[in-house]
Amino acid sequence: MANKGAPVVTPWEVKGEIDYDRLMERFGTEPITPELLERIKRHTGRLHHMLRRGVFYSHRDLDAILDHYKGGGRFVLYTGRGPSGPVHLGHLVPWTFTRHLQEVFGSKLFFQFTDDERMLIRDDVDEEAAGHWVLENAVDLMALGFDPEKTEFIVNTRHVSELYPLALRIAKGITCSTMRAAFGFSDDSNLGMMFFPTMQAAPCFLASERTGEPVPCLVPAGIDQDTYWRITRDVARKLGYPKPAQVHGRMLPGLTGDAKMSSSRPLTAIYTTDVPELVERKIAGADTGNHPARCPMYQYRYLLLTEDDEKARELYVDCLEGGIDCRECKARLAETVNRFLGRHRRRRRLIRGGVEKMLE
Ligand code: TRP
Repeated sequence: MANKGAPVVTPWEVKGEIDYDRLMERFGTEPITPELLERIKRHTGRLHHMLRRGVFYSHRDLDAILDHYKGGGRFVLYTGRGPSGPVHLGHLVPWTFTRHLQEVFGSKLFFQFTDDERMLIRDDVDEEAAGHWVLENAVDLMALGFDPEKTEFIVNTRHVSELYPLALRIAKGITCSTMRAAFGFSDDSNLGMMFFPTMQAAPCFLASERTGEPVPCLVPAGIDQDTYWRITRDVARKLGYPKPAQVHGRMLPGLTGDAKMSSSRPLTAIYTTDVPELVERKIAGADTGNHPARCPMYQYRYLLLTEDDEKARELYVDCLEGGIDCRECKARLAETVNRFLGRHRRRRRLIRGGVEKMLE
């Protein structure tokens, strides 16, 4: 168990101030170095702002994925979401980056909805609620501009017949003691949670399984999900599949200074469905941290909303030198967020029918 007050980072809980470099050390991942960035740039032209700014900052085997791609090979992308509530700005960080990867590498995306996981860990999510959030969240995802031809949803309870044989083989290769050590499960953990990680691991191997050839998989996700991939990589070798590669992102802080914007603490989050007045009120009431490096207002711009480096730098300097006060900065951010969400909601309305078809 973690010390009291120390940051807690498991897939279900992210609290406290996060030292992202220490996480990389603790999880044994590699930094995305300037050399690796150069390599990516050679394939993609301009570097995405989330790479330029180290929002996605750590990886495993991204170099191997690039080697494979350079040699003419294809790879798939895989990410996902537990459908238990509305999508907030924090979710859009990895998704926006994933969309960029799909566009520049032309990769197919598997997007998993872990409705089973939500039912196992929450008391207020039943099949009906999960089904509702699958559709709503899928609409949010596709509104970011993913290619419907190259995107496939996996809803665990619906697609279990394809996942289960894979999950079984994965489960056979992992002991309970490994699961306890990796995820912190105890004798009181429910039985389903012990098995569930095999369902999240399974899509890493789906493309290889379907084609009968090794198809590498790259998982862009928040670093809080890393535990799954460490387990999956261990098992990959035993099962004869390529080890899944990862790129790890930082998490968007909450409005009230929490390390992560979190649906379970609604006042920390701006949802895509929040009406403009609510967005204004939430931002007006947010903590500023007294320095741009600790201020959610600055972080939302830097990590997600402001692509222009010069604009981001100007705001940083203005904030420190008193060229802009917090009230004005908050009002401007609320405007930016509302403009963004207005466009997002319009796209949501336009594509809803298409997404319903994708989920049929
Ligand atoms: N467990 C994740 C969550 O609670 C959802 C998820 C499933 C996921 N598969 C994934 C996240 C792959 C990242 C990558 O949100």
